[in-house]
Amino acid sequence: QPSLVPQQPASNIIRKKLMGYVGFANLPNQVHRKSVRKGFQFTAMVVGESGLGKSTLVNTLFNTTLYPPKEPLPPSAERPKTVAIESIGADIEENGVRLHLTVVDTPGFGDFVNNDDSWKPIVENIESRFDSYLEQENRVNRTKVLDNRVHACLYFIQPTGHSLKQIDIEFMRRLHTKVNLIPIIAKADTLTDEEVADFKQRILADIAHHNIHIFQAPTYDNEDEETLAEAEEIASKIPFAVVGSDRIVDTPDGRQVRGRAYPWGVVEVDNEDHCDFVKLRQMLVRTYMEELREYTNDVLYENWRTEKLLSMGVAQDSSVFKEINPAARLQEERILHEAKLAKMEAEMKMVFQQKVQEKESKLKQSEEELYARHKEMKDALEKQRSELEDKKRRIETGRPLTPEKASTGRKKGFLRT
Ligand code: GTP
Repeated sequence: QPSLVPQQPASNIIRKKLMGYVGFANLPNQVHRKSVRKGFQFTAMVVGESGLGKSTLVNTLFNTTLYPPKEPLPPSAERPKTVAIESIGADIEENGVRLHLTVVDTPGFGDFVNNDDSWKPIVENIESRFDSYLEQENRVNRTKVLDNRVHACLYFIQPTGHSLKQIDIEFMRRLHTKVNLIPIIAKADTLTDEEVADFKQRILADIAHHNIHIFQAPTYDNEDEETLAEAEEIASKIPFAVVGSDRIVDTPDGRQVRGRAYPWGVVEVDNEDHCDFVKLRQMLVRTYMEELREYTNDVLYENWRTEKLLSMGVAQDSSVFKEINPAARLQEERILHEAKLAKMEAEMKMVFQQKVQEKESKLKQSEEELYARHKEMKDALEKQRSELEDKKRRIETGRPLTPEKASTGRKKGFLRT
């Protein structure tokens, strides 16, 4: 897609040498602090046939029991006929970094005799999450936008050793434009090393043949060799052949590991010689979680949003929106106008409240001043009255006044000798 911002020719950039430390080298730390404070939201979706080890793998990935252990179904229990999608959220913390993790489970996918439309509820679920994000973006107040969009979709492939099933292809074709697809060979401990390698080749060939876009770890030109090598190694493992287990087992050499114990040995989840679990976790959590979030926002959501707005009658040419459908445009203008009015009203209310508060505090202050003055005058009058009363009493009893008072009296001609 062409960029809307005009590119500046490189010659316009003036390179200057700094005379001292300015401080913008600290910007990454500021960003780090801020993101740690805010925490992260990440939503992963797991899709695959029942019993492929989805719940076990999610628990293994995030080292927590998101899914409680399951009770075995009684033999008489009937399988649910519709695809029920459930979402489990958990706040997990590691070294002070908070992650709100949501796992969207799609149990029973592909289990029915007729699986024609089984991808539909899953696509709808992903789109409704985009819808909810778009709705939040359009609100007047956008300070708290909750990101519930699916950032990664782990697609579990049955370890048949053949090639992709029709339903896998159908599902991936429906989803690859809406979500970061990460294909996974489930229960890889049921295949030998050669079988895994062949199966991977066939899966990749099928994916390429059907033009399905799966998530690829991005690489940038200015990255160091180590990062490039890591990205290459991760890419070479796709589709990840994984083994899941949330149990600790004892190895023959006395170690305790997460794994699966068989009569002939132990399959270790965290051992790169045994399966690709470590590489999957590295891609999903350690190295590319932010890339997955970014790609979801910048490409997948953006494309969906453009399509949605186009279908509503809004088109975009290089820099301005122009109308195709006048009704939709009018509606958009009305919404904007209403938002503007609501903002103005809120501002006016705030100014009014401020003015009332100022007036009230002024009134209160002058009331207090008046009260203080009144009290002062009352006290002075009271004092004067008691002095006069005292004087009156002395005159009545015929007692001479104190010299001070006598002199005052004489001066004023009150006393006769
Ligand atoms: P639904 O929620 O019913 O769709 O099942 P699920 O895909 O979540 O599978 P779940 O994690 O419940 O695992 C089903 C069974 O497979 C359990 O008995 C697990 O112990 C077992 N299992 C899980 N992961 C693996 C694995 O990597 N290899 C093997 N051999 N078995 C596994």
